Amino acid sequence: MTSVLRSVVTGVGGYLPERVVTNDDLAKFVDTSDEWIVERTGIRQRHQVADDQPVSDLAVAAARRALAAAGRTPDDVDLIIVATTTADLTFPSVATIVQRKLGCPVGIAFDVQAVCSGFVYALSVADGFTARGRSKCALVIGAETMTRLMDWTDRGTCVLFGDGAGAVVVEPMAGEGTTADRGLLGFALRADGTKQDLLYVDGGPSTNGQVGKLRMQGNQVFRHAVVNISEAVTAAAADAGIEIASVDWFVPHQANLRILQGVARRLGIDEHKVITTLDQHANTSAASIPLALDQGVRDGRIKPGQMLLLEAMGGGLTWGACVLRL
Ligand code: UT7
Repeated sequence: MTSVLRSVVTGVGGYLPERVVTNDDLAKFVDTSDEWIVERTGIRQRHQVADDQPVSDLAVAAARRALAAAGRTPDDVDLIIVATTTADLTFPSVATIVQRKLGCPVGIAFDVQAVCSGFVYALSVADGFTARGRSKCALVIGAETMTRLMDWTDRGTCVLFGDGAGAVVVEPMAGEGTTADRGLLGFALRADGTKQDLLYVDGGPSTNGQVGKLRMQGNQVFRHAVVNISEAVTAAAADAGIEIASVDWFVPHQANLRILQGVARRLGIDEHKVITTLDQHANTSAASIPLALDQGVRDGRIKPGQMLLLEAMGGGLTWGACVLRL
């Protein structure tokens, strides 16, 4: 057995804005119904930021909880990676704003933009620092204010998304190079830029100078989801050297209940092993995986030492999966 440095998740935290918007609330101004939304997506409600609440505030709240869970303070943090597609400003990065608001010392801070897959991408990037001894205490955050990108006249998209943030603390620990080690054990990351038109925002600083609104051909994205995600999950499990059957908890990106169930069925994952927050949070893009992780840890289902499988797919298209032992 060889001694290797592993990137271990030592704390998890989440934050949801106070305001809750139900499906019936949306049906008051857009041609939809609670019945349609629940049946086609599994969503029952979502949280929405206050008008004066930037995404960095959500990220900071989640980060504080993750640090407390890890027994760390902002003083310990030397790396901050924020996965987001809804930054406070075009620049600087949300990560540097979080660093300032938390009062962390000078270190490394930047954002990762891979839309709904952002948290899986960000974990992989963090692993590149932590497992090489270049970070002793990293904050990896998924934070989004997706409701700010909604076209509230488009019933095909505006009912699907919500706001929130989730964070994890990642620290280096010596392992033995086996699947019994705690830490990030395997990844598979994918992108296919030819599918851009299926899911994008129609604005940006170097095109029309606008923030833009989210545009999606939902049924087309749906068609790719189950196949793409299943392939990435299988590849991540192979990268980690584990059997999918040995996974304790499946913690997927929360886009649509039918996608979660389809992936689980295809991979032979028992439905009782799937953490689902979609009904309460809707799709919070890069925040959805760490929020689901936080939910599972706080309600006592997910325990230290267990094997977790994370996966996501989003705009780009991007998708990916990660296997980790908590
Ligand atoms: O996280 C990023 C990745 N995103 C995703 O993974 C999203 C993937 N896609 C989906 O989740 C689903 O495709 C949706 C939930 C977006 C849509 O469900 P669908 O079963 O694919 O419906 P559809 O788009 O094929 O539309 C079916 C019908 C249409 O009416 P007609 O043309 O059949 O008369 C839509 O106009 O449903 C209608 N519709 C709605 N009706 C009531 C679409 N949105 C709504 C709505 N309320 N909110």
